[in-house]
Amino acid sequence: MFVRTASERDLAAVRELLVETWHATYDDLYGRQRVTEITDEWHSIPLLRANLEQPRSEFLVADDGKTLGGVAYATASDDGKTVMLKRLYVRPAFQRSGIGRALLAEIEESFPEANTVRLEVAVDNHPAVAFYRANGFVISASPETDTKGHSVYNCEKRIG
Ligand SMILES: CC(C)(COP(=O)(O)OP(=O)(O)OC[C@H]1O[C@@H](n2cnc3c(N)ncnc32)[C@H](O)[C@@H]1OP(=O)(O)O)[C@@H](O)C(=O)NCCC(=O)NCCS
Repeated sequence: MFVRTASERDLAAVRELLVETWHATYDDLYGRQRVTEITDEWHSIPLLRANLEQPRSEFLVADDGKTLGGVAYATASDDGKTVMLKRLYVRPAFQRSGIGRALLAEIEESFPEANTVRLEVAVDNHPAVAFYRANGFVISASPETDTKGHSVYNCEKRIG
């Protein structure tokens, strides 16, 4: 798998990866119907295209030439000092083979002005919490509620 910038021609495969990975990750937490509703909203082709065109953002895929194994999307805020990691998903069959770490490293390098990376992770998503902890993030002590009403931890890492 090599990490590269996503393009318009990846969008259908990115959506398919996100739908599969979201169901594998969240069906047990939120229920299959709710996950379908959320992923239809957040991972529609028009919304993914808008992400691609967003200024001061980075949209990456991990690709082996045949299959997309992972996707990451982040935006800069706070005059470029803060990177908001909005999406980091590795297809279930490819998890635990270093793709998440490679995507995260490339996101961090893509924002040379930044000193902080922030993200939210579902409180019950224990593998992801372990991944972020292993990759240098500090996990907030108490959860907050996200825009969908889910309990999340804020995670933060100093970079640069
Ligand atoms: C969380 C996720 C992005 C991690 O990506 P990955 O490619 O599977 O992880 P990596 O192989 O790069 O792991 C790097 C390190 O993180 C830690 N880690 C990763 N997955 C872990 C798990 N399930 N349990 C414990 N530690 C884990 C380990 O220290 C690992 O190093 P090691 O394999 O040498 O022990 C990926 O598993 C994923 O997409 N999960 C489902 C979707 C999701 O939860 N996304 C995050 C939403 S906020």
